[in-house]
Amino acid sequence: MLTIKDKTFVPFITQATLENRITQLAEQINQDYKDREPLLVVVLNGAFIFAAELMKQLTIACRVTFIRVSSYHQTASTGVIREILGLHEPLEGQDLILIEDIVDTGLTLQRVCRQLGDRQPASIAVATLLFKPDALQADLSPDYVGFSIENRFVVGYGLDYDGFGRNTKEVFVLQE
Ligand code: IMP
Ligand code: MG
Repeated sequence: MLTIKDKTFVPFITQATLENRITQLAEQINQDYKDREPLLVVVLNGAFIFAAELMKQLTIACRVTFIRVSSYHQTASTGVIREILGLHEPLEGQDLILIEDIVDTGLTLQRVCRQLGDRQPASIAVATLLFKPDALQADLSPDYVGFSIENRFVVGYGLDYDGFGRNTKEVFVLQE
């Protein structure tokens, strides 16, 4: 059990299950990208542990960079605009693999994909540790999914509740 502030979380995905699945994803990416040199684009903060575990098991030539989607947003006629911070590399002609902790509504990722897409990469794929298909509102489907889960709040292995709970070896779910 894990208590963070006012909430109680219970074990959900074990360390061994996480690690085995990430190994499988890495093998898949090694196959799919064997003749390419992808740039991994890690969405901070939540994806850092997943990204590290995944990247350790990639045997292809690859690089990594980190972005942050600013929580500060302005409202414009088009709706919410979130700025991408930290991406200074040229992306033209690059194969990008976006690394996310979790795809919930998918709206964050959709914006990130659109903004990166404007910079003429050769391709964009999405790898996410967790995916909540029932919460999806965006028009996208992640290419590499660790686990599809029900629409419940999870923490651990990089994911947080109010900034806390990232530092665990397993994933926990909010007790109902
Ligand atoms: P989306 O734009 O709704 O897909 O939200 C994505 C972001 O919301 C993720 O990158 C997480 O930071 C956060 N998030 C969504 N669901 C959870 C959850 O169950 N636990 C912790 N963070 C979550
Ligand atoms: Mg996140």
